[in-house]
Amino acid sequence: MTSTTAPVPEADGETASVRAARTRSAEIEQRIARDPSMFRVLTGDRPTGALHLGHYLGTLANRVRLQDAGVDVIVVVADYQVITDRDETGDLPANVREVVLDYLAAGIDPRRTTVFAHSAVAALHQLMLPFLSLVTVAELERNPTVKAESVDAATRQGRSMSGLLLTYPVHQAADILAVHGNLVPVGTDQLPHLETSRTVARRFNQRYTAAQPYFAEPEALLADMPTVLGNDGAKMSTSRGNALELRADEDETAVYLRRARTDSHRHITFEPGSRPEVASLLRLGAHFAGTTPEALADTIGADGAGRLKEVVTEVVVEGLRPIRARRRDLAADGRAVVGEVLARGAARATVLGEGTLADVRELMGTVYS
Ligand code: TRP
Repeated sequence: MTSTTAPVPEADGETASVRAARTRSAEIEQRIARDPSMFRVLTGDRPTGALHLGHYLGTLANRVRLQDAGVDVIVVVADYQVITDRDETGDLPANVREVVLDYLAAGIDPRRTTVFAHSAVAALHQLMLPFLSLVTVAELERNPTVKAESVDAATRQGRSMSGLLLTYPVHQAADILAVHGNLVPVGTDQLPHLETSRTVARRFNQRYTAAQPYFAEPEALLADMPTVLGNDGAKMSTSRGNALELRADEDETAVYLRRARTDSHRHITFEPGSRPEVASLLRLGAHFAGTTPEALADTIGADGAGRLKEVVTEVVVEGLRPIRARRRDLAADGRAVVGEVLARGAARATVLGEGTLADVRELMGTVYS
């Protein structure tokens, strides 16, 4: 028997809720085009090392696009999220610096976009406490992304689920609601977290506000974010060691792409389902060539995978050239530049977060003077 509420995968592998989020996102894009000032985006990254091509295509390019469209974009460098699923945080100051330099190199403009680190904004964390009271442990334990991360932490480091891993979706609600973000660009794996944020906002309103709701329920912006595969054919990720870092030089890029796995069919076609490796290369090339994967496949056709890799290398090297040049310029003065960006960002996030906390305490009746 099938139930109408269970997520039933469609033929293309997408659940009905994912498809609904896609439809909604398309509507939001139209509203952004009409009036970007209606939106405040809150998004973030765990600083676990320099960013790679997958980050760039998946999220970074999209943030720059939203910023340039006139949306107020706030990015949290989620240093307190690094400790959810690992014992070793690595060199956090260096990792935070790399991430922020990658942002700036990719086109994030710190005069328009706010970049701050979790640990620098105390009010945000104070919001987590009342928010935790608004969700049940059963709800937290149902989160499929948290479950997957817990299994991963267990198999990789024999680590059992920490309280923070279980509750970090609520922490993420605090990230978003502290600054009154109303739009969160996400991949499908983050949709359950956004649901938690919406639940927290809704229940807070129900419990503590009479007429006017205080928090808006933030919305997901499911951008068309392609999953970029590493040259071994698995999803590109730092922890898998199959990533091409944005800061890599031309030779490294060429060597990396030459080693990209393809398949045994000579004729190049764009068929993500049956030819994922070729499709990933086509998407990568199409992004930087400003064309579609289908059109790029047509221009290569019978010339085969060797030619495909040459073309992709050319356009990737060309496309990343300005980003890499900017990064080199910035890196000379990296510490100072990053320090200034984060200080400015923390100042603004603190003003926003303190304001929200003051309102929350007022609404909860925890102001005693
Ligand atoms: N969990 C996100 C990631 O691992 C990072 C993140 C932290 C985030 N806080 C957020 C994303 C708030 C969206 C909204 O990439």
